[in-house]
Amino acid sequence: MGKIRCRFCKEEAFIRLKQHRLNLCKEHYLSWFENYTQRTIREFNMIKEGERVLVAVSGGKDSLSLWFVLKRLNYQADGLYIDLGIGEYSKKSKEKVLKFAKEHNLKLIVVSLKEEGIPIPLVGEKTNRSYCSLCGRIKRYYFNKVAREGGYDILATGHNLDDEASSLLSNVLSWDLKYLGSKFPVLEEEGGFKKKVKPFFKFSEKEVLIYTLLRKIDFIEEECPYSEGASTLFYKKLLNEVEERSPGTKLRFYLDYLRKVYPLFKKKREDLKSCILCGEPSYKEVCFICSLKGKVKV
Ligand code: AMP
Ligand code: FES
Ligand code: ZN
Ligand code: ZN
Repeated sequence: MGKIRCRFCKEEAFIRLKQHRLNLCKEHYLSWFENYTQRTIREFNMIKEGERVLVAVSGGKDSLSLWFVLKRLNYQADGLYIDLGIGEYSKKSKEKVLKFAKEHNLKLIVVSLKEEGIPIPLVGEKTNRSYCSLCGRIKRYYFNKVAREGGYDILATGHNLDDEASSLLSNVLSWDLKYLGSKFPVLEEEGGFKKKVKPFFKFSEKEVLIYTLLRKIDFIEEECPYSEGASTLFYKKLLNEVEERSPGTKLRFYLDYLRKVYPLFKKKREDLKSCILCGEPSYKEVCFICSLKGKVKV
């Protein structure tokens, strides 16, 4: 069998992207990845010229690569890292983010949950909610607050196709209709919530990993010790088995949800009040995070 060749330069290809029917050498993989991100940004009207983006960076491969690509594409993008206060895991991930920002001379904002009085281990222990769901709410709160206070137009996260499709699958299995009308790779600014975008949502986890490795971006590989990894990993694995048999299924599953299902369930986000303590959108006078701070105060 002959060697497979890069679509663009005819050199030997190092990767075959089955779902795109595309063979690429390393150099053209990098340019394909960056151009594809740009196309997704334009197709979904994610970022306009001159807008200020805040990228939420965890120290993982997805968000660091996203920050890198947005800068290469000449967007104004600063970083936001939330130090969750989870022992060694947070220490290591913070090191990776600080190092990356310094190396590339980028502006990084750091929020420390310890200083805010709500490190994850403490709030997890003092309430009987799951660590991950608390952590998700706290992160989303600071993403919005920091973006709003810093005058950013858009908040970007590094979610990839595997994240989005596996979460869709698990919510379809439980027919969570609220979920089906609320997840979209672009959420416009509304009711005190900043615009949110996920420019990598069409890339599989593997595609992002390859980009990160080729660019030699140093990232944290460990999972958070509280991660409810088991079920998410199971759905990711399941979708990859389907993908193996029928390349393109994962992307189609997600894109068809966006096209056919989301519009049926989409609801306008309610106009919420502003929390009297912090000004963030809230159903009650005092928002969830401010009341959490009150509860765990020692
Ligand atoms: P995860 O929920 O851990 O899969 O992360 C999804 C996205 O949320 C990442 O790609 C980041 O953009 C963002 N993110 C997660 N953890 C943090 C953190 N500690 N600080 C800032 N952004 C984060
Ligand atoms: Fe938030 Fe694990 S509990 S990252
Ligand atoms: Zn090539
Ligand atoms: Zn509040």
